[in-house]
Parts: sequence; structure tokens; C-alpha cells
Amino acid sequence: MSPSSYKLSEFGASPSDESQQFFLDRIRQVQPRQATQLELATVARILQLRGRYPSLTIHPLATNQTAKIEEHIEGEFLRSICRGAIGVFRSYSLGHWDSSDLYGLMQALVKADIRLTPLRLIRPAFRNTSRADNRTYAEVALHYDLPVGLFQRFTFDLTYSAAFMRANPGSIAESTRMTYQTVLQRADLRPRTTVLDLGSGWGAFARYIQNATPLHYVGVTISPGQIAWCASKQFDPGRIHFVEGNLCDSRTWPRQAGLITMFESIEHIRSRDRPLLFRELRMRYPSTSIVLQFTAREGNLAQARNLSRSVATDLIFTGPSQFPPLRQVLKETRSAGYKVSHIDDLTAEYSHMALSWYHRFATHESADDHLDPAIGRLWTIYLAATASALGQRALTNYHVVLDPTTKGLK
Ligand SMILES: C[S@@+](CC[C@H](N)C(=O)[O-])C[C@H]1O[C@@H](n2cnc3c(N)ncnc32)[C@H](O)[C@@H]1O
Repeated sequence: MSPSSYKLSEFGASPSDESQQFFLDRIRQVQPRQATQLELATVARILQLRGRYPSLTIHPLATNQTAKIEEHIEGEFLRSICRGAIGVFRSYSLGHWDSSDLYGLMQALVKADIRLTPLRLIRPAFRNTSRADNRTYAEVALHYDLPVGLFQRFTFDLTYSAAFMRANPGSIAESTRMTYQTVLQRADLRPRTTVLDLGSGWGAFARYIQNATPLHYVGVTISPGQIAWCASKQFDPGRIHFVEGNLCDSRTWPRQAGLITMFESIEHIRSRDRPLLFRELRMRYPSTSIVLQFTAREGNLAQARNLSRSVATDLIFTGPSQFPPLRQVLKETRSAGYKVSHIDDLTAEYSHMALSWYHRFATHESADDHLDPAIGRLWTIYLAATASALGQRALTNYHVVLDPTTKGLK
């Protein structure tokens, strides 16, 4: 189960050593404070920690979930839990402990975190990284500039977002195609109309547009690695274009667009820039609809701001990053002159997809050890935690179609 080795030579054209080094430094740099004896004892009781080094079990109070843990350093599991999610991610990445059922363990921890207030109170913030909202946009690229092979190990056709799976629970690739088809059918565009895809990833939507439609496409991404990857693929230069830059910068946008899509990119936009982005899109393209798909976290703005310094923003996502509450995003789009014409809750589907990603990644066999094992382990626990957080609706995911109103900007 433990993905301890990755062969960089499999990873395609240009693996980004700089990005890998960045994440390794992040893992090592976080210096947790020591938990007190009282904290250790309280957390052990809440989690119903049983057994002795090296084999432990937990059965958190008020949950029906049991999980096994194998410690490689005595006491490290409990110490890491006392440091919160970041402590758990860090110590797992460094190989301090293992679990034969990491997903089950993450489920138990997510449940414990949701239900057991004392655990939340104990969780000491040990964050020596900057607030996500204050980071630069250029830092976003570090996550996406990691070797493309890392993403190929778990995504299907390099689509790094949710899909409508209800009609096609068995096939993620087919569901993704159906999602793109539905998006374009709803928009009912004339041939040669341009689709503007803000946050274009490794060109999954562009591939669909090129192969299945007569439309034009402009994709914007801040990641040089993704631009280089797309440049190496067979895209029709007459119809499909990729622009490297910040999607908030209107100079990266084409003169005209018949549809704007943002699949899982709004989470990387600073909360203060989001309303401006919607207003600028509305002014530049007054009659164009937006398809917005994003991962959200319920709660008020203050909670969202606090959560913007979390394990995801400290260890996984670089640059500005936040899971904004749905209500907040809808309020901002309303003020910019959009109304909701469709909304789908994709949380269950995204959880299923993230679980498939986790299994694909965790069970991947590889002989040579060229990628630092800590990065592989970090990604394993990130995917397990994402699937369980979505499974318990600690995170949610929405697909929203926004049409411009006749009233315009408020
Ligand atoms: C989670 S990926 C989704 C990729 C793609 N839409 C998909 O569904 O597979 C987020 C994408 O948004 C891009 N992105 C995030 N913030 C950005 C910004 N400020 N400017 C440009 N691109 C950005 C990332 O580079 C990445 O391509």
C-alpha cells in the first residue's frame, strides 16, 4: 500500500525538481510545538487509543470507526495528532507511521474532528507559513508544476476536477466526457465560438473541444509546467490556444467569449479578488454565461478565513487558496450581475472520484526510487483525506451555471 518509490523517468518531459524541493522543504520546515502531557492524555482518551508500539488502534468516541496504525517511531502517532491535521500529514509523509487502511483512518479522524469539540480545541496551530490570502499568485504554479506523472498516477486523462457521475457511476473518464458535453449543450454555442477556460490544467477540456466540437478554445493557466505539457501535445493551432498568466488579469482573456468555464480554479483566487474577477468578467463579456465548479467549505466568512490556513493551504496547495462557502460565492456573483440557472451538488460524486484517485495512487507499483518518497506519501494522505472529507461533507463540491441578468452590475 505504501507508495515508497516513483521513477522520474516515467514522468514524461520535464519533471520539476524545484517544485519537489519546495514541497520537501515545506514538510520539513513546519516545526510543531511539543504537546503537553495533558493534551496527549486527552487526545488518547478521545481517540480511544489502544495497543502498544508498534501496533495501535483507535476507535474515536462517538464514532463507529476503528483504524489500525503501525508506528515506526514510538509515540509519534499520538504526538502528531496533537498537532492537528498538519502534524498528521507531516509525520505520515516522513514515514513515522503507516496504516493498512489509510482511508478508514482518515474517515475516523475527520469524524472525530467534526464531532469532538475538545479535539478541535486542543489542535494547536503550528503554522509558520504565511496566510494563504497573502501569498503571491505565482506560488500557485508550484503545485501544478510537480511532475505530470504524479498527476497521471491518479487522475483519469489528467482531469483534476469533479464530474457528473450519476448517469455513469462505473466510468470516470466517460463521466468527464458527459460533463463537458452537458456544459456545452446547455450553452448551445454556434460553431467557431470561443470557450474561455480559466484554469485550464493539462488541457482536458481543450482535448474534448478539439475532438468533439467545432468550437474555439482559449485556456489560461499560471503553471509553466502545464503550458509546456500542452505545447507538446497535438492541439490544432487554428482553434485551441493556451495562455500562461494569471486568470484574474484581463490581458490574458480573448476579445470575445461565448462561454466562460472555471473548473476547480476559483479556490486559488484571493477572497478579496473574487468579487472583482466576477465584475470584470461581467463588464468584458456582458452576455456570456459562466460555469463554475468548485470545492467549498460551509460556514461563515471568518471561519473560511481561518480555514484558509489549513493543512491543504500549508502543505498541498501553494499560493492563495481557500474553499469558499457556496453562499459567499453566490452573493458575489449576484452582485456582479449573474443569476443561477443550474446548480448541482457534486459532493458525493467527487468523493467517489477522489477515492478512486487515492486507490490508483496508493496501489501504483514502481521499482526505482527517484521521486522523494515523502512527496509520494504526502500525496497519498492528501488523496485519502480529501475523499473522506468529501464523503462526510466536511468539504462540498458544486457545479453552478451563472447567466448574466438583464439588470447588470449592482
Ligand atoms: C485543480 S486544477 C483544474 C484544472 C482543470 N480545470 C481541470 O478540470 O482539470 C486548477 C487550475 O487552475 C489554474 N490556476 C489556479 N489559479 C490560477 C490563477 N490565478 N491564474 C491562472 N491559472 C490559475 C492552475 O494552474 C490549474 O491549471
